[in-house]
Amino acid sequence: MSLIKEKIDTENLPQHVAIIMDGNGRWAKSRGEERTFGHKNAINAVRNAINACNEINIPYLTLYTFSSENWKRPTYEVNTLMSLLTETLLLEAEEIFSKGLRMHVIGNLEKLPPMVREQLLKVVDLTKENTKGNLVLAISYGSQNEILNAVKNISSDVKEGKVDIENIDEKLFENYLYTKDFPPVDLLIRTSGEIRVSNFLLWQIAYAELQFLNVLWPDFSKDIFFQCIVDYQNKERRYGLTGEQIQIQ
Ligand code: IPE
Ligand code: IPE
Ligand code: MG
Repeated sequence: MSLIKEKIDTENLPQHVAIIMDGNGRWAKSRGEERTFGHKNAINAVRNAINACNEINIPYLTLYTFSSENWKRPTYEVNTLMSLLTETLLLEAEEIFSKGLRMHVIGNLEKLPPMVREQLLKVVDLTKENTKGNLVLAISYGSQNEILNAVKNISSDVKEGKVDIENIDEKLFENYLYTKDFPPVDLLIRTSGEIRVSNFLLWQIAYAELQFLNVLWPDFSKDIFFQCIVDYQNKERRYGLTGEQIQIQ
């Protein structure tokens, strides 16, 4: 039994946690191995994050798996990541299903090799009736591109008379994002010590708590995740109000 998990207030859980799973390459290099060795050793950390969320019933977990910029990495690394993704999905689909998780994918899926896309969509379809929690994989995902696409689609709806410019507000805008069915991110975690968001969920993290950990992704454990939740619960989220106003609420 985890002592850290015991400290979590189950009444004040984040509804949506997003993770930038960073540091695989450095983890491998520090062991004198190729970068791809780090990716292979990252799968257990992914399992840890999913299981930790599932154990404490966090309804939405979004994992930054592959960014739109990651396509520019060496071909060998990209190919290894794509095969790993397909293999892992094949192996883990049953497990995701039996945990009652519904999987979603966000990003520019057209750029993915057909095998990967098909495997992803298969698991999305297999789990579509599940309601225990949501696992969102951001793959070939870039937030600026997501926002630009929203702008283009709204513009075309304005042109066709489906949307009145006066009615464009935050709520309407969100309906044009990949994440339209998900709540805003409450907690964003990034491993590897880098303090940046690297084109991830820029709109959706407007009021998220941010945590940057000095841990490389393959070393990520359930207890590290639980500690992030405890730290999140020790923050006062003010949304622009004063601390006194929040105390009264
Ligand atoms: C994260 O680890 C995995 C992906 C971006 C796909 P990196 O591969 O970025 O590892 P570092 O940051 O170079 O150590
Ligand atoms: C962000 O990590 C993308 C993922 C974790 C999938 P990167 O390693 O690509 O980010 P930068 O290049 O350090 O900003
Ligand atoms: Mg990196």
